[in-house]
Amino acid sequence: MARFYSIPFRHGSTHGHDRAVIIPVMVGAKIAIGGKGGVGKTTVCAVWAELFAEDGSDVLAIDADPNTNLASAFGIPGEQSPDPLIGMKDLIAERTGTGKEAVGAYFRLNPKVSDLPEKYSLDVGKLKLLVVGAITHGGGGCACPEGAFLKALLTHTILQRQEVVLVDLAAGVEFMGRASVQGIDALVLVVEPGGRSIETANNMAKMAGELGIGCVGAIANKTTDTAQGELIQSQLKDIAFLGSLPYSRALQEADLRREPVFEANAEIVEELKRARNTLMELVLPSRALRANE
Ligand SMILES: Nc1ncnc2c1ncn2[C@@H]1O[C@H](COP(=O)(O)OP(=O)(O)OP(=O)(O)O)[C@@H](O)[C@H]1O
Ligand SMILES: [Mg+2]
Repeated sequence: MARFYSIPFRHGSTHGHDRAVIIPVMVGAKIAIGGKGGVGKTTVCAVWAELFAEDGSDVLAIDADPNTNLASAFGIPGEQSPDPLIGMKDLIAERTGTGKEAVGAYFRLNPKVSDLPEKYSLDVGKLKLLVVGAITHGGGGCACPEGAFLKALLTHTILQRQEVVLVDLAAGVEFMGRASVQGIDALVLVVEPGGRSIETANNMAKMAGELGIGCVGAIANKTTDTAQGELIQSQLKDIAFLGSLPYSRALQEADLRREPVFEANAEIVEELKRARNTLMELVLPSRALRANE
């Protein structure tokens, strides 16, 4: 049975005072964040992870980008960043049965991975960070031991874990395969003011539809005026618009200094809280439906 609990969240404002509205929030929503390179996926993922954790959810933030840098968005110094699991050759060989004892070119398609999030995740304040990485050859969906390992790990965390899971995806459409997003509740696309970024979002949304993902949302990022957010919104096809984040020098500086993005700009955090709440309202009905099936 599905588990619900309620959190207060701010919705609109009355005479300068925020009105607290109680809505049910599902424990364990699974959200993947995608978009063109450099648009702000990692930034959104890190801030949302902190927001969910602040509200009392157990959170697992997964870095599924071949250039793993979600740790730095939490302010973790480079030397303390966990090594991506996809680079652990011995572990993958052991789990997929391609170690020294292996016979021929066979490997397990469903390697055991359920113990790995516990073993390899890093505690970051109230949340957990799991640095998985991605395969750079064969478009991520490769029929090789690493591919089977990655698919098993992501599918396990998305389908079996109780936490809120946020997946920071690799940039672009080519990486988004069944392996990385199967079973997610929502794909959220970050879009910056620019035609190619919008095109990537529309292509990813189309693919999400083909993969059966029920909810696709978008966040405009780095906008310099409200018209840019509106223009982005008007060009997105079948994507729920969740909000606009202004261009922020403070965010850029935080990245430069490897400081936590969550502490860099309160306005962006507030806007992302609203966007997150809008998304949860969209996700909730489809989750409830599925839970009752
Ligand atoms: N609203 C914003 N204003 C100014 N700079 C921003 C904003 N959002 C993100 N940035 C900056 O843009 C850069 C890219 O952001 P981020 O790493 O979050 O994007 P990404 O989509 O994850 O990139 P990649 O495709 O490389 O993984 C970073 O330097 C980040 O600090
Ligand atoms: Mg990133």
